[in-house]
Amino acid sequence: MSVVLTARDLTRHYHVSTGLFKPQAVVRALNGVSFELEAGKTLAVVGESGCGKSTLARALTLIEEPSSGSLQIAGQEVHGATKAERKQLRKDVQMVFQSPYASLNPRQKIGDQLGEPLLINTSLSKAERREKVQAMMQQVGLRPEHYQRYPHMFSGGQRQRIALARAMMLQPKVLVADEPTSALDVSIQAQVLNLFMDLQQQYQTAYVFISHNLAVVRHVADDVLVMYLGRPAEMGPKEDLYTRPLHPYTQALLSATPTLKPDPLKPKIKIVGELPNPLNPPSGCAFHKRCPYATQRCSDEVPEFRKVDTRQVACHYAEQFL
Ligand SMILES: Nc1ncnc2c1ncn2[C@@H]1O[C@H](COP(=O)(O)OP(=O)(O)O)[C@@H](O)[C@H]1O
Ligand SMILES: [Mg+2]
Repeated sequence: MSVVLTARDLTRHYHVSTGLFKPQAVVRALNGVSFELEAGKTLAVVGESGCGKSTLARALTLIEEPSSGSLQIAGQEVHGATKAERKQLRKDVQMVFQSPYASLNPRQKIGDQLGEPLLINTSLSKAERREKVQAMMQQVGLRPEHYQRYPHMFSGGQRQRIALARAMMLQPKVLVADEPTSALDVSIQAQVLNLFMDLQQQYQTAYVFISHNLAVVRHVADDVLVMYLGRPAEMGPKEDLYTRPLHPYTQALLSATPTLKPDPLKPKIKIVGELPNPLNPPSGCAFHKRCPYATQRCSDEVPEFRKVDTRQVACHYAEQFL
């Protein structure tokens, strides 16, 4: 299988004001994220609010330049790409947001919105565009008469179907979905997740699927990346990560996730305390203040993100959970 997305040591820092006459502070929103993603596969990115998921999404979709690190899309280096190359890259990577209102125009009919990417990027005739739009609408479970309707006339789940259809119109190589089902009723979430899976099957699109909830990504992920305060905490194949999480933070996230069959052998730990202030992150391992296993070493030394077993983990003591 071919690798379509490669991120190497991506970082994004924001300079923020902390008050009048005070020096600017730096938020390390994204701090050294690397991965490879193949066509037809899904990398799920998980972590609490504020850990840098949306910052990663903006970097991957070229909405924002990373502060450092590199990004390759379909073998093409993004940094240093010409204007024409960038235009192509933007077509190759599409995004679905948590709120479809961020990607849908409230004053334009659905059919026209879905046809717009084709109008801008292809030389298809009006009739051909219409035909493609109607085929895609059918694929995402919309009826032909929906063509003439406006976004507000749909339910939340339908709007997310429309946003997904729009993102898929040009058959991108990569789709980045930032909490695409978080705003939907639980009963609707599964249907929309299934639709994501169906479209991936058909088009072999690579997905970066972002969620704060490990339970949501369980069905869609191939690999999972758990992030904490801008840094990767653990990354690996889904089954391994769910059955034997090696980072105490992954263990804590899983302990907080309801399961039908609780495993008595699995470590149960609870996250205590608040997420630290990103302007003033803890020394050493950023998780140490909330970790039940933390030692002096954890407050002194930043753990390297290193290979352990089938995964990569940033914990000094990962081996003891094998
Ligand atoms: N434009 C920005 N300016 C300053 N800080 C930002 C900006 N965008 C995000 N941040 C900060 O970066 C961190 C990561 O944010 P974000 O990527 O939105 O996290 P998530 O999507 O995981 O909730 C947070 O501390 C957030 O406050
Ligand atoms: Mg976010």
